[in-house]
Amino acid sequence: MLQVCRRRQRVLKYLGITGLLVLLVQLYVYQRATVPLSDKKIAQDPSLVDRIREGKDLRSLDINVKKFNDVWQIVNSTEEMYLFSAFYDDRPSLLTDPVIRVITVSEDQIEQRKAYCYLWFGESTDPFVEEADVLRLGIGGWRHGKHFRERLCTCKLRKADEIPKAVSIELGDANSNPPKPSTYLTIQHPEKPTIKQDFISCVSVTFWKIDPHRIVEWMELHKIWGVHKVTIYNSSIADESAKVFLHYQKEGFVDFRQAPQFLPDPGEMSILLTMIPVILDCLYRNMYKYNKVVVTDLDEMIVPRTTLNYKALLNEIDKQQPSDHKARAYVFRNDFFFMDPRMPEDKEMPDKLVTLRHRVRVQPCAPGNSVKSIIDPQACVVMHNHFCSVRTNGHDTDGNTVHVNIELGLNQHYKKCHLDKLTGPGECARRMEEQTKDDTMLRFKDQLMRNASRQFRVLELGTL
Ligand SMILES: *[C@@H]1O[C@H](CO)[C@@H](O)[C@H](O)[C@H]1NC(C)=O
Ligand SMILES: *[C@@H]1O[C@H](CO)[C@@H](O)[C@H](O)[C@H]1NC(C)=O
Ligand SMILES: *[C@@H]1O[C@H](CO)[C@@H](O)[C@H](O)[C@H]1NC(C)=O
Repeated sequence: MLQVCRRRQRVLKYLGITGLLVLLVQLYVYQRATVPLSDKKIAQDPSLVDRIREGKDLRSLDINVKKFNDVWQIVNSTEEMYLFSAFYDDRPSLLTDPVIRVITVSEDQIEQRKAYCYLWFGESTDPFVEEADVLRLGIGGWRHGKHFRERLCTCKLRKADEIPKAVSIELGDANSNPPKPSTYLTIQHPEKPTIKQDFISCVSVTFWKIDPHRIVEWMELHKIWGVHKVTIYNSSIADESAKVFLHYQKEGFVDFRQAPQFLPDPGEMSILLTMIPVILDCLYRNMYKYNKVVVTDLDEMIVPRTTLNYKALLNEIDKQQPSDHKARAYVFRNDFFFMDPRMPEDKEMPDKLVTLRHRVRVQPCAPGNSVKSIIDPQACVVMHNHFCSVRTNGHDTDGNTVHVNIELGLNQHYKKCHLDKLTGPGECARRMEEQTKDDTMLRFKDQLMRNASRQFRVLELGTL
C-alpha cells in the first residue's frame, strides 16, 4: 500500500483540435526519480507550447477555473469543495521531504471520494498526479443541510523534485482515472528573511462591525507588548471598522487580506468556517518571518501580568516553568471581563478604553476551556483558534506545550456574557457571583492613553 502511495501517476493529456478537450487516455505509473521532467513528452498542439513559453497563464489553455468571490476556487464535483490557498512547506522539522499544503473547506461527503493533488511543474501542461493526504481540522458546521469542515490537503514532494508552480485538488473515484483538472492554485513560497522578528499576531477572520475605538486600543496594546505585525482577514468588515485597519496597514503594522465567505449564504456559519483557513494561511505565510505567532481574536488579548511585554513574558515563563523543548507552545487560560451592568466599571477611566474601564474579572475558565496560545510556527502543522493541534514530527515530543501559570499571563476577554445562550439560562449570573478586581492593565495605562489618543486624533475618532 505504502509502495503504491509513493508512486506517482503520470497523466498524459491529448489536446484536441479545439484545444479544450482533454482526454485522460492513459495512466502511466512511473517512479518519479526515473522520469526527469525535461524528458517528458507532451502531446499537444505546437502553438500551445509557444504560448506557454511566452509565459501565458496555463489556466487559459485548458483549465476552466471557477472562482467564488475572487478568492475561493471551486472543485468540479458533485460534492462541494472550496480551496483557499496553497503553500510550499520545507520546514526541517517535518523530517520528511517538502510538501505542498492546500487549505480547503468541504462537505463531509468528500471523504467517500479519492482526493488527488495535481502538481504543475515549470512550463509543463502535463501534471503529476498523486493521492492527497486529507486532514480534518475543525469541528465544522452545517450549511444548507450539509455538514462542512475545514480540511488541509497535503501533497508529497521528493527532494529531487523541482518545486511545482501550481497545484490542483480534484475529487475522483477509486476505479476510474483522475478527473480533468478544474482548479489551479499558485503555490506560495513563504518569505525567508535573514533576520526574523519576534511576534506576529494572526487574527481569525474578521467580519461586520467592530467598534473603531476597540480596534485602536487592541492595536496599540499589541504594539506596546512587542508585536511587529498583525494579520487581519476581511470577510465583509463594515466600512468604519475597515478604515481603521487600512490606517494601520498604511502604517505598516497590519497586513490586511481578503477572506470573503466561500458560499453566498446569509448567516455566520460560512464566515465561521473560514476561521481556521485564515489562521493556517497566516501561519504558513509567516512561518519563516517570525519566531512566535500569537493567535487571539479582537475582543481578547494575552496579557503579561508580571512583565511588560511578550518577550519578557516568555522569558519569565521559561524561568518559572522550564521545559527543554526547543519550540514550546505557550497556552494561556481564558478569563472574562464581562461588559455587563452586573460588573462594576471604573467611571474615572476613559469610556473609549475598555481595558482600563473594565477591571473586574470573574474566575478564570477551567484549563483547556477557551484557551489562547503563542506558538512557534516552525513546529506547528495545524493551528486553530485555541492551540496547535498537530505538530511537526520533529517537535512532537514531551514538553512541547507549557500551560502558563495564571499569575504570569492570562487571556483577558472583553465581551457581553454569552454563556446563558451557550450553557443555559442563569449561567451568566452564576459566573458573575464571584468577582475579582484586577488592576493589571493600569501598568500600561499611560502608554496606552498617549498612543491611543494620538490615533483617535488621526482617525477623527474623538478625544479620550
Ligand atoms: C466537471 O465534471 C464533469 C463530470 O465529471 C465534466 O463533464 C465537466 O467537463 C467538468 N467541467 C469542468 C469545467 O472541468
Ligand atoms: C507610542 O507613541 C509614540 C509616539 O507618540 C511612539 O514613539 C511609541 O513608539 C509608541 N509606542 C508603541 C509601543 O508603539
Ligand atoms: C471586505 O470584504 C468585502 C466582502 O468581500 C468587500 O466587499 C469589501 O470591499 C472589503 N473591504 C475592504 C476594505 O477591502
